Amino acid sequence: MSFQTLLYEVRDGIAIVTVNRPDKLNALNDAVIADLDQAVARIEADNAVKGVILTGAGPKAFVAGADIGELSKQTQFLGKARAMRGQAVFRRLERCGKPVVAAVNGFALGGGCELAMACHLRVASEGAKFGQPEVKLGIGPGYGGTVRLPRLVGKGRALDLLLTARMVGAEEALQMGLVNRVVPADKLMAEAEQLLRTILANGPLAVRLCIEAVDAGLEMSLEEALLLEANHFGLLASTDDMREGMGAFLEKRTASFRGS
Ligand code: COA
Repeated sequence: MSFQTLLYEVRDGIAIVTVNRPDKLNALNDAVIADLDQAVARIEADNAVKGVILTGAGPKAFVAGADIGELSKQTQFLGKARAMRGQAVFRRLERCGKPVVAAVNGFALGGGCELAMACHLRVASEGAKFGQPEVKLGIGPGYGGTVRLPRLVGKGRALDLLLTARMVGAEEALQMGLVNRVVPADKLMAEAEQLLRTILANGPLAVRLCIEAVDAGLEMSLEEALLLEANHFGLLASTDDMREGMGAFLEKRTASFRGS
């Protein structure tokens, strides 16, 4: 099955998902959100997919936000439903159990910045621009911007971006912790892939539980989060992957994990 608004390709264990509305700077209309949900369902179900790269089509934009044409027509209840739907899809991506890297190839504004933040890691091209310009339109973020941005960069920096609606370039985004790497545009996909392959060479169950522990742990008390970490530590001790990883170290060879 193909998608109306996405390109979806699996290459050597990596699903490459491209938001494909370049003439509208890949703005997120309801069709993109529905397609993203289906793409995540496929990623969850397909054992051949070990990790994901999410990017935008064309040279100009990752995603330039929610589709303002659609938003401009919404009523109160449709607005809330649209926000909750987008939030649920982004959350599903964040919790798909496989590492997700955003390759940010241009504007990542509003819903685009929110989508990048729902990915586990972000690689940006040098010309990428980030921002939450919603207040300029008389609205606030609806897809998690007020929630994930302060968790990523801290309250003060988040409020700076959220209240001024200013855009920041890739270097400033790197300094504030909004992105993990900045590379020239022609190296973007290769860098995102290399980052993901570095992760995929590690124990997949360990990687999955790290993501889960950080995701859940940030919302828990220190004591609860430490207990969760200890539980994961114990759980991983029951895996073949732990024996393989430690055996490989002791035998001075590269580990070959099976995810069991
Ligand atoms: N929703 C719907 N359409 C959008 C869009 C969005 N968020 N962002 C860009 N587009 C469309 C434009 O309307 C234009 O369509 P058209 O050719 O049919 O007129 C096309 O994409 C190209 O955008 P354009 O504005 O002409 O490009 P630009 O280089 O002059 O400006 C931006 C680029 C990103 C600065 C500008 O498009 C912009 O500010 N977009 C909105 C960003 C935003 O507020 N996002 C948050 C939404 S909640």
